[in-house]
Amino acid sequence: MKFQTVAIHAGQQPDPSTGALNTPVYLTSTYSYGTAEEGKARFAGQNPGYIYSRFANPTSSALEQKLAALEGADEAIVVASGMAAISSIVYALTQQGDEVAFIDPVYGGTDSFLRNTLVRAGVTVTSYRSDDDFVANHSPNTRLVLWEPVTNPTLKVIDSRKIVGIAKQIGAITVCDNTFLTPYLFRPLELGIDLVMHSGTKYLCGHGDIIAGVIAGNGPLIQRVRTVALKHLGVPMGPQEAYLLQRGVKTLPLRMQAHCENAAKVAAFLASHPKVAKVYFPGLPSHLGHQVIADTASGFGGMVALDLAGGFADAARFLDNLNLFAQAVSLGDLESLACHPASTTHAAMSAEDRAKAGVTEQLVRLSIGVEDADDLIEDLARALSFLA
Ligand SMILES: Cc1ncc(COP(=O)(O)O)c(C=O)c1O
Repeated sequence: MKFQTVAIHAGQQPDPSTGALNTPVYLTSTYSYGTAEEGKARFAGQNPGYIYSRFANPTSSALEQKLAALEGADEAIVVASGMAAISSIVYALTQQGDEVAFIDPVYGGTDSFLRNTLVRAGVTVTSYRSDDDFVANHSPNTRLVLWEPVTNPTLKVIDSRKIVGIAKQIGAITVCDNTFLTPYLFRPLELGIDLVMHSGTKYLCGHGDIIAGVIAGNGPLIQRVRTVALKHLGVPMGPQEAYLLQRGVKTLPLRMQAHCENAAKVAAFLASHPKVAKVYFPGLPSHLGHQVIADTASGFGGMVALDLAGGFADAARFLDNLNLFAQAVSLGDLESLACHPASTTHAAMSAEDRAKAGVTEQLVRLSIGVEDADDLIEDLARALSFLA
């Protein structure tokens, strides 16, 4: 079946007790197993059946089936947030003395977790400037490598094929944060990546009404992550969120097409504007990573970033004069959003690390929504007209 059909039908069976077409929100923390013998069998994994909603809940299980089908994975796990997904993966698969690598930049929260919190568990964390830097300078002892194929917030493109090639040689686990592209545009497991994760808060949900995380993969790795995420760290997704994410994912293909089309139009407009110093959008043929995305993904995504010549002052004047774009962090919503990453999403990084990662004071990040592109362009043009 094609992606659009899977997005609608996978993980959805009429509810056995009522025939309800949508999987209901199962608001229950525990499940009666009836007899002591049955309880013992369920805990031992000998009998199927729900036990306790931190381990599994029917609303979440239906969503996990849909997401696994969309990623081409054996299994998906839904958790409380994108950060819960990242920390569960890393805590499940690394231990004291291990080396973890990441390719700069990543979301500010991920950066801060790796550099400030994970290191306290005795794990060495090393950042690399690019895929080529990792290829040339990687440590052979790397246990796990994490990257975003289109980076937040600079929209730099990382060639996943290069990272996988090295990781396979040195036996490192590969983890791709696919929040920006989604499985509609990019399917990491098909490139041999071990685990894919998302902030489900963003495009997968699409409506900006939940915080959510998703992990997908195959075999024993994903089972180890499930145990740590749900049984040890205890960060399951709640059933209300699972219901809303199931509903949101059904329209992912429709929304992503609209995001991609609008972003391409906005990027072309900004690239031709004299007051914009630089535009970052992998769909522009001039973007250094254009060909890599053209070869490995089926679209360029809905995120655009731009540099304004006059640093924070210009960025602030531009942002403060936008009407249609809301000044807000997050991304992937129906509404267009704009933010200044250096002072918001990436504020937790040191100034030095930000400078190395290209998160400058003049950078503005736009999440292009699904409004009419002409209206978005008019809003951007008006805000730019306030700059000297
Ligand atoms: C690329 C990326 N990964 C992970 C996260 C963290 O996700 P959450 O906010 O759902 O914890 C974000 C949040 O902005 C993000 O942009």
